[in-house]
Amino acid sequence: MKSIKLNLIPGDGIGVDVIKEGRKILERIAELDGNIKFTFNELPWSCEYYLKHGYMMPADGLKILADCDAILLGAVGFPSVPDHISLRELLLPIRCNFDQYVNLRPVKLLPGLKSTLKKEKIDFVVVRENSEGEYCGRGRFESEGTENEKAIQEAVFTKHGTERIIQYAFEYALKNKFKSLISATKSNALNYSMVFWDKIFNEQKAEYPGIQSRSVHIDALAGLFIMKPEEIEIVVASNLFGDILTDLGSAMLGSIGLSPSANINPERHYPSMFEPIHGSAPDIAGKGIANPIGTVWAIVMMLEHLELKDPALLLMNAMTAVLADVKIRTPDIGGKSSTSEVVDEIICKMTK
Ligand code: NAD
Ligand code: IPM
Ligand code: MN
Repeated sequence: MKSIKLNLIPGDGIGVDVIKEGRKILERIAELDGNIKFTFNELPWSCEYYLKHGYMMPADGLKILADCDAILLGAVGFPSVPDHISLRELLLPIRCNFDQYVNLRPVKLLPGLKSTLKKEKIDFVVVRENSEGEYCGRGRFESEGTENEKAIQEAVFTKHGTERIIQYAFEYALKNKFKSLISATKSNALNYSMVFWDKIFNEQKAEYPGIQSRSVHIDALAGLFIMKPEEIEIVVASNLFGDILTDLGSAMLGSIGLSPSANINPERHYPSMFEPIHGSAPDIAGKGIANPIGTVWAIVMMLEHLELKDPALLLMNAMTAVLADVKIRTPDIGGKSSTSEVVDEIICKMTK
C-alpha cells in the first residue's frame, strides 16, 4: 500500500469549488487502484480566515505544510483583503520558502477545444522562475503624502537563481527532444536585470548546441504567441514574464480556467505544490460554474510528480475524453454544465 499525505488549501472563491471536486477525483483514484491511500489535511487558510484571525496562516503554517508529500491549492485572494496582503502572506511564501523555484506551466490545445486564435496546434511549456526576480518583494515608499511621493519596486536576479532555472529549461528541452527554446527577455529597457538574464542565458546556450535557442523580447514574444504559437516548444521566463505569458497562453486555448501549474522543488527537499493557473474568480464565485480542468490537469501533474504514472495517465485520458466529447463542459468554453457535472463525467470515464 502506498500511503500519500496531501495538504489541501482550497483558499478563496472558486478555489473552494475546484478543490472540493479535485478531492473527489483523488478519492476515486484510491478506490480504483486499491494500492494507494490518500490522507487529506484540509487547511482553512484564506481571506475569510484572515478576517477572523488577522493572518492568512498561523505562525507555524509552513511547518504544518511541510509535513506532506504534496500540496494542492485552489486559489488565494478575495476583494475583502488587499491582494498584496493575502498573496504575500500565503501563496508566495510557500513558493519561496519551499524553494519551489520551477513553475512548470504547459499550454496545450487538447482535442475538442477551440483555440481563440483558430489555430490547430498549440503545444508548448513555459518554465517560469518562481522564487525571485520581480517578485522578490523588496522596495519602499518615499516622501509619502508629498508632491515627491514615490514607490520603488526592486527586482533581484541572482546568478544561482537565474542559472538554475535556465538550465532546468534546457534539460527539460533535451529530455523531451525539443528542437528549440526561447528565452523571454526585455534587455532593451531593463538594463540590469534582463542584461544579466541574457548573459546567463548565453552562457547556458553554449552548453546546449543541439538546441536552437534564442532570446525574444517579451513584447515581441507576446506577439509570437498570437501569430505563430505552433512554432513554440518551450519558453523560459522570469517570474513576472512567465506569469503574464501563461494567462495569455491559456486564453489562447479558450479559457484561463483550462491550464495547470506545478510549483516544483526539484531537489525534493520540500513538498511541491500544484494548482490551476487561474485565480479565485470573484465574478463567478459561488455559482458552481468554474471550469475544473486547470485543477484536474494540476492533479495529473501532481500524480506524475508522486511517481503514480498509471493513475496520472488514467486521469489525463479521462479528462481528454471529456473535452473531446464536447457535450459536458462549463460556460467559459461554451457549455452549460456545472463544475461538478464535468468532474462527475471525468470520474465516470476513469474506469480501469
Ligand atoms: P482570475 O483568474 O481569478 O479571473 C480572471 C477571469 O477569468 C475572470 O473573469 C474569471 O471569471 C475567469 N476565470 C478564472 N478562472 C476560471 C475558471 N476556472 N472557470 C471559468 N472562468 C474562470 O484573475 P483575477 O480576477 O485577476 O484575480 C482574482 C483574485 O484571484 C485576485 O485576488 C488575485 O490576486 C487572485 N489570484 C490568485 C491566484 C492563485 O492563487 N494562484 C492566481 C491568480 C489570481
Ligand atoms: C499565479 C498568480 C500569482 C502570481 C499571484 C496571485 C500572486 O497570478 O499563480 O499565476 O503572480 O504568481
Ligand atoms: Mn497568474
